[in-house]
Amino acid sequence: MRAASVSDYRELARRRLPKIFFEYIDGGSYAEETLRRNVADLEVIALRQRVMRDMSQLDMSVQLLGQTLSMPVGLAPVGMAGMYARRGEVQAARAAAAAGVPFCLSTVGVCSVEEVARGAQAPWFQLYMLKDRGYMRELLARAKDLGCPVLVFTVDLPTPGARYRDVRSGFTGGTRLEAALAQLRDGVTHPAWTWDVFVNGRPHTLGSVAGAVKESRRVTDFLSWIARNFDRSVTWKDLDWVRETWDGPIVVKGVLDPDDARDAVRAGAQGLVVSNHGGRQLDGVRSSISALPRIVEAVGDDLEVFMDGGVRSGLDVLKALSLGAKACFLGRAWAYALGAGGEAQVARMLATIRSELAVAMILTGCRSARAAGPELLDGLDRPSVSRPNRS
Ligand SMILES: Cc1cc2nc3c(=O)[nH]c(=O)nc-3n(C[C@H](O)[C@H](O)[C@H](O)COP(=O)(O)O)c2cc1C
Repeated sequence: MRAASVSDYRELARRRLPKIFFEYIDGGSYAEETLRRNVADLEVIALRQRVMRDMSQLDMSVQLLGQTLSMPVGLAPVGMAGMYARRGEVQAARAAAAAGVPFCLSTVGVCSVEEVARGAQAPWFQLYMLKDRGYMRELLARAKDLGCPVLVFTVDLPTPGARYRDVRSGFTGGTRLEAALAQLRDGVTHPAWTWDVFVNGRPHTLGSVAGAVKESRRVTDFLSWIARNFDRSVTWKDLDWVRETWDGPIVVKGVLDPDDARDAVRAGAQGLVVSNHGGRQLDGVRSSISALPRIVEAVGDDLEVFMDGGVRSGLDVLKALSLGAKACFLGRAWAYALGAGGEAQVARMLATIRSELAVAMILTGCRSARAAGPELLDGLDRPSVSRPNRS
């Protein structure tokens, strides 16, 4: 099948990847209510069609945090991407660089920040706060020395949410023997992946934090390692601690509430990502797109507001811009494409998003991505399907 849309990349990834990794990418936490809301609440937003407006000139570029992006899109941090394709983080970072958009490397990537900087470009670097602050300081210094332009500090994972699919697939929760058997079964039934990743894609460690992951040797042990080593005591004051080592822009990722957004401003962040971690943490919370307008209203003049969660097309990107986001991040969209076929498929997926965004801009009369606003929406300018919190 030749993929035309993100759902096609999902299907290709489902066929090519071992079940444990496909389910890990595809799933959310608990009953996956928030995961569904992220997508559904974007779907119900209606764009406002406008015609006959000379749309021969389009400017899709945006400027943020000192960088020019060719379109208002970036690749969100996704853990363990090197298990979806051989040295997957390097492949995805190359596709992002060629497309003129940022690639954000996860703390728990298979490829280290050094390997990505060497093989592609210095990535935006995503930070999870580990208990071992000495190690964290070294890690921040390494990212800074490599020229990483932006630090993305993820604040919505003090502990991992319960992901039922990972238990059912045999990825987590079982004995080591059960996990090994699940992996063996998966390997035999997915020979293309076995050759590409299992045989030729080594080492399978969490590259950037390999020095801190002493007791867990296999990459698949990492969820239990996270639960033991991520620091739940973290507060906004820790941003001051981060600043002692990191003097570049800091983006706080994982904010859904306007009060938290105001705290992020007070703590000195330059940007924030409205996000519920792709519905993988606290299930039942509102969708990112429904949280976005109130956060833009609260802090949109004080820092750059981005969003992620449920973005599956260029149309979704324009909807998010219309509700005040400066740019969107893609999570599963690029993970599926990488699993479907590495760098080439991530590049094709980004080209698809770009052309869909162009069509959406042309048919809404939007000449510049920087100027997108609520006038591009048709009446239904606020998602109305799910409002779990007080509004
Ligand atoms: C497989 C997977 C792994 C992820 N790993 C990380 C991570 O290491 N760090 C992080 O900040 N967010 C992580 N996320 C969350 C994404 O950065 C992003 O918030 C989310 O995927 C956006 O939703 P979407 O997948 O619907 O686009 C992960 C998401 C997925 C699907």
